[in-house]
Amino acid sequence: MTAIPLASDHAGLPLKLALKDALQGEGHVVLDLGTHTGDSVDYPDFAAQVAAALTAGQAPFGILVCGTGIGMAIAANRHPGIRAAVLHNSTEARLTRAHNNANIACFGARTIGIETARDALRVFLSTPYEGGRHDRRLAKIDPPGAK
Ligand code: RB5
Repeated sequence: MTAIPLASDHAGLPLKLALKDALQGEGHVVLDLGTHTGDSVDYPDFAAQVAAALTAGQAPFGILVCGTGIGMAIAANRHPGIRAAVLHNSTEARLTRAHNNANIACFGARTIGIETARDALRVFLSTPYEGGRHDRRLAKIDPPGAK
C-alpha cells in the first residue's frame, strides 16, 4: 500500500497529528516527514519534502499543514508537477480534485476544525480527477513534458 506523505511546521503539528491518526484509523499508511516537535521551523522546508516524495513517484497525494495552509500551498506550488490547494471544507476538496487534479491537500491548524479537516481529507483522497475539458486548462499551467 502506498504511504501518504504528510508534513507540517510547528503551527500545524497538532492538526497534522490528528489527521495522521484519522488516516491510520481508516487503514492508510502514512509517511510522516516532520516536524516532530513544537520547535519553530520553516514551512518551505517541509513543503519541499512532500513535493519531492510526489515528484519522485512515491505517492500520488500528499498533505501539508501550517498555521493557515497558505504558506505551505505557496511553497509547494513552486515545485514542478505540484498542484496544492488549501482546503476549508469538503466541497473545495471535491472540486479541487475533480477540476484541478490537486495532488497536495493543505490545511491551516489555526483556521479549520479537526472534524472538518478530516472530512475534507477523506473526500480529497477519494474523489477522482474528471479530465476532459480540465486537461486543456491544466496543460496551460503545466505544459505536458515541462519540468
Ligand atoms: C508560523 O507561525 C506560520 O507563519 C505558518 O505556520 C504559516 O501559517 C504560514 O503560512
